[in-house]
Amino acid sequence: MKKIFLTLVLSLFVLTIQAQDINLLPPTKTGGKPFFETINARHSERTFVKREMPLQTLSDLLWVANGFNRPDRRTAPTGSNKQEMELYVVCDTGVFFYDAKQNLLKFIAQGDFRIALGQLHISTNAAVSIVMVADLDKSSIENARISSGYISQNIYLFAAASEDLGTVARGSFNRDDLPKVLQLKNNQAVVLVQPVGYLK
Ligand SMILES: Cc1cc2nc3c(=O)[nH]c(=O)nc-3n(C[C@H](O)[C@H](O)[C@H](O)COP(=O)(O)O)c2cc1C
Repeated sequence: MKKIFLTLVLSLFVLTIQAQDINLLPPTKTGGKPFFETINARHSERTFVKREMPLQTLSDLLWVANGFNRPDRRTAPTGSNKQEMELYVVCDTGVFFYDAKQNLLKFIAQGDFRIALGQLHISTNAAVSIVMVADLDKSSIENARISSGYISQNIYLFAAASEDLGTVARGSFNRDDLPKVLQLKNNQAVVLVQPVGYLK
């Protein structure tokens, strides 16, 4: 019984302990504030209270940001449906790739690499930082910047629809180090960083 309870607790906060792929939970797709209240609440936050993000919240956040809401199309639009944007997750214990199709976090590296995110005063207490990465074989950097704006707004609205989450889009990051930390290939470029954290 004790073992089952411990497993359950650990599975809620997996990012803190695991150096392996993490199966995300199916997105909730219900709840949150009504639409007009959500838009009214959208704003940038840069000060967070350190708290672990439950796996369900992280699963919902990533799905809202850029998950698949139809068999081959996503919650954020892209020019000609090129789907050039992918998301990476950086937290205090490691780096993961969001495999939206598999609803999986693929483990990339263990360790605290948040210094590469820049503006540490913002990301230190954030639960996670989402990094938007463009595949420039699929689309131009101009289109990728526009696509990132939609993803960013999805994240803003996810936070605004919640009771206790905040976020800020960040164009300021370490352009030399962050691609290395994410182990990007030459055709990939970081466009935007977006920490998400708890306000209370
Ligand atoms: C493309 C883009 C880049 C941004 N870069 C940063 C940044 O590097 N650091 C930061 O603190 N805020 C950044 N912001 C957030 C803006 O400062 C913020 O959206 C603006 O002040 C308006 O405030 P609001 O979002 O609360 O309406 C960025 C926003 C956008 C859209």
